[in-house]
Amino acid sequence: MTLPFRRRNLSRLFYAVIGALLIRYFFFSDIPSSSSSFARTRSHQIQEHNFIERATRPDKTLNVQKHRFLQSRIGRDEREEMLGHVIRNGIDDYWERFQLPYILNREAAPIDAQHVLSAIDQLLSLNGWVAALCPTLTRPFGQNKLGDIWDDIVREDHLYYFAIVIHSADHFLVDQLAVIVQMAKRLGTNNMFVSMLDYDSTDSTETLIDLCEAVLTLLGVPFRIRRVPGMTEDPAAAYYPLEEAYMRNLALEPLQELKSRRGIVFERVIWLKGFTCPNDIFETIKVSFANQAAMVCGMDWAEHNGFFIFSDRWRTRDIEGDQFRQSKSSSKPDAVPPRDKQGATRYAQHLPFQVFCCESGTHVVDPAQSYYKGIEYRAGTGFQNLSKPELVPERDADAPCLDSSQAWFCRDLWVKSASDAMEEVDRVNAGVGGNSNAKRNLIDLAARDPLMLNARPKRDLSEEEPVERRQLLPVVVDADANAGSDYDAIPDEEGGEIVPPPEQGRLSIPNSVFRPARILVNPRCVTTYAGVSHTQLALDLFGDGDDNAEGVGKYVLEDWEGAPESFVCQEQRQTGGRKATKTQRRLGFSIHDELQKLA
Ligand SMILES: *[C@@H]1O[C@H](CO)[C@@H](O)[C@H](O)[C@H]1NC(C)=O
Repeated sequence: MTLPFRRRNLSRLFYAVIGALLIRYFFFSDIPSSSSSFARTRSHQIQEHNFIERATRPDKTLNVQKHRFLQSRIGRDEREEMLGHVIRNGIDDYWERFQLPYILNREAAPIDAQHVLSAIDQLLSLNGWVAALCPTLTRPFGQNKLGDIWDDIVREDHLYYFAIVIHSADHFLVDQLAVIVQMAKRLGTNNMFVSMLDYDSTDSTETLIDLCEAVLTLLGVPFRIRRVPGMTEDPAAAYYPLEEAYMRNLALEPLQELKSRRGIVFERVIWLKGFTCPNDIFETIKVSFANQAAMVCGMDWAEHNGFFIFSDRWRTRDIEGDQFRQSKSSSKPDAVPPRDKQGATRYAQHLPFQVFCCESGTHVVDPAQSYYKGIEYRAGTGFQNLSKPELVPERDADAPCLDSSQAWFCRDLWVKSASDAMEEVDRVNAGVGGNSNAKRNLIDLAARDPLMLNARPKRDLSEEEPVERRQLLPVVVDADANAGSDYDAIPDEEGGEIVPPPEQGRLSIPNSVFRPARILVNPRCVTTYAGVSHTQLALDLFGDGDDNAEGVGKYVLEDWEGAPESFVCQEQRQTGGRKATKTQRRLGFSIHDELQKLA
């Protein structure tokens, strides 16, 4: 008789322990337990909803007071600094003599809060920062004179994800922070997330990032700041496009975590590069929504021998696949950055224009058309690793272009847009999910693209000659051109302009039958770098700013072109870091072929 009794007691104990563990797991999963290293590595990660939240209404807010894991710093550089102990002594002394004695009781707390609030107020007024100059700069259509014309964007209450990659570029970090603070003031701190990735910086980035951390913490802006070591120790073994892809995907990690673990979905991702005025970013966001654009880029201007030149020719291609000109900000209409006719015309009118690819400074990406659909940044793999004593890899004449990670991203956007459209057509043909609105859209699409409905890829292009026409130009990169994004481009005098012209109409299934990717450049969104006279640049670009093109056409592009059938491929075939030698060729681009590779 005693045995069953004891067994019952044991099983009760067992259930009690399990119960306690479950309660602890479900209700206190937000509290990291300091004893386990598992909990410590978890604490900077975005946490899933606990049991109660899942059962009731899941909290999808970005509230840093409620969810501590929304503000985190990973991989702080803890190395001893040169005067570190002197600084630490000073801080301790200040704390012990001037702070601690006045923290007497609870009643003193409001005074502290007051200190914090006035500190934030000072930050927001941005006295002396470049951002403070922004409202005084000339912009077309009187944008800066109209007061707050971005109210409609703010009212939507969307979520925005700000991403910054810092690679020894401390000179604009403070101004980028100023811009984030300004945006937070208007969008609300609970409507944004800031992701900063420090890739192996060796300058004063670390200290400035401490400042960013302090400011964002004070303001209650959710953030993740992360420092990672370089991919390779030896710069000669580094392949820059691969590093680009790695940095950007890491900067997007919280975006994916917030979606998968908490169901938080962002409306737009804003990549801050260089310095861009907050109003210009707002306008680019507006252009992005108005056009349902996959990506909208600003334009990147750098100082060069006393002039301002367009500066992202490594990654930007016009809608005909050509490189942008290295134009001056004051260039005549026939020598503006985009070479294609439509782009040049719209550029001259300060209107957004379609491109094949861009990055040029600050750019806005719609994650629903990209990152949430599984597109990641990537790079070519057929490069030669100079630190390995191997032969040069054997490459076909039409081998994939070994260009920037952004160029790969753009091509992925074009192919994704085409394949999504074809899937939609299939769905409607199969009679699934066909509400009348979707059907009407597809009929529009089919009317525009008569071939699309039967453009299902078939492997029948064997007789097709490759479009590619190559011309290799060994080039030495100008090490002094460390200005803006053009740091990576090939200068004109070294053959940067020489590529054979495109040959049209060689594809059996032209790119124009596929649904285009919506990639735009907004010339009103000016991105600059250290040393640029903002006022002069604004005058060069926009004159007195009194354009008369109100209303229609200001934001929306009516006609969208298909992808070019070839593009200027500027590639790094070897390792050697950012400054590695580049060569240039014209390479065919067939969406039909790309879709077949996926199938
Ligand atoms: C090149 O080779 C070196 C030595 O094997 C290696 O450490 C490095 O990661 C390689 N670089 C790339 C980009 O794969």
